[in-house]
Amino acid sequence: MSNHGGRQLDRAPVPLRILPAVRAAVGPDAEIILDSGIMSGGDIVAAIAAGADFTLIGRAYLYGLMAGGRQGAVRTLELLRTEMTTVMQLLGVTSLAELTPEHVRRV
Ligand SMILES: Cc1cc2nc3c(=O)[nH]c(=O)nc-3n(C[C@H](O)[C@H](O)[C@H](O)COP(=O)(O)O)c2cc1C
Repeated sequence: MSNHGGRQLDRAPVPLRILPAVRAAVGPDAEIILDSGIMSGGDIVAAIAAGADFTLIGRAYLYGLMAGGRQGAVRTLELLRTEMTTVMQLLGVTSLAELTPEHVRRV
C-alpha cells in the first residue's frame, strides 16, 4: 500500500489510515507492505499493529542521507530502531507479534 509519499496527489488516502480496512478485505494471509508517511519508529509500530507485515521508508532515510551521507542513512535506521523499542516498551509488548489493532488509537 502506497500513496508514493503523497507527492503526486497530496490528498490521496493516507495508507496508515485505511490499513485496517485493507487488512480486513484481504484477510490474514496476504502480505501487506505499507509505504508512505513513515517518519518515526512509532509509525512503524503503529503500521504493524494495524495490520502491515512491514513498512518501507522513503524520505526518512533520504533526510539522513542528506544530513550525513552513508553514516546519516545508517543513523536514520538506528533512530527508527531505538524509537520502535521505546514505543514497544511503553506499550508493554516484547515482540512485534504481540501488536494488535487495539494498540493504535483511532481518531
Ligand atoms: C525524491 C523522491 C523521488 C521519488 N520518485 C518516485 C518515482 O519516480 N516513482 C514512484 O512510484 N515513487 C517515487 N517516490 C515515492 C517513493 O517510492 C515512496 O513511495 C515514498 O517516498 C514513500 O513515502 P515516504 O517518503 O513518506 O516514506 C519518490 C520519493 C522521493 C522522496
